[in-house]
Amino acid sequence: MSAATERRGYPLRPVRIAPSILSADFARLRDEIRDVERAGADLIHVDVMDGHFVPNITFGPPVVRSLRATTDLYLDVHLMVEKPERLLDAFIDAGSDRVTIHVEATEQPREILDTLRARGKGAGITLRPGTPVERVLPLLDAADLLLIMTVEPGFGGQAFMPECLEKIAPALEVRRTLGPERFWIEVDGGMSDETVGRARAAGVEIFVAGSAVFGRRDRAEACARLRALAEKEGDRVAEG
Ligand code: DX5
Ligand code: ZN
Repeated sequence: MSAATERRGYPLRPVRIAPSILSADFARLRDEIRDVERAGADLIHVDVMDGHFVPNITFGPPVVRSLRATTDLYLDVHLMVEKPERLLDAFIDAGSDRVTIHVEATEQPREILDTLRARGKGAGITLRPGTPVERVLPLLDAADLLLIMTVEPGFGGQAFMPECLEKIAPALEVRRTLGPERFWIEVDGGMSDETVGRARAAGVEIFVAGSAVFGRRDRAEACARLRALAEKEGDRVAEG
């Protein structure tokens, strides 16, 4: 295995870039999606906020349905909503490829993950920066993705919280026992040219980037640079 796919002996998947449409121009959403498709995005990250779990409101299932009709890219839906079980069917039926729920938002995270997988969807679990990783470790056997929040959920354009990356090592240890193909490790919040390398070095595989992609005029250049910097820094750490 090459250095690019290892983190100190833990196998890692190749780098994936997931632009978050939270930072797109909503009046031109179709063009914005086309633009990041051409720019080499691997997934589209969709931030759903309900005004309760977080102090902001964004999209509902109808927007996901419109996105589904617009792109074949994988729709990576991040639910920042209270009691996501109430909305699960609607987001599945709208065409989400994966739905990620917050462990703080529900009393039945395992049931939700099981439902998602039974419906043939990706099942993601995530946690706020202040929530200990021990809350999610026992759920990882039922998940396809662990999303590490490196900002307080609710808004784009916030400063990266590097200490959150410390949650990845124990998750990689769990993955070693479950098998390397089990769940992906994704990071969300404050990704930039300055921070992607550090995240890759910690073990991140999918990089959500809002302002670092949609805030730039040349999205192809933005995606290519994030990818290259993540790969380069990952190599350096794996070797060093
Ligand atoms: C924050 C969202 C993020 C957000 C990231 O609650 O979950 O996906 O769009 O934005 P940036 O990349 O600008 O920090
Ligand atoms: Zn998100």
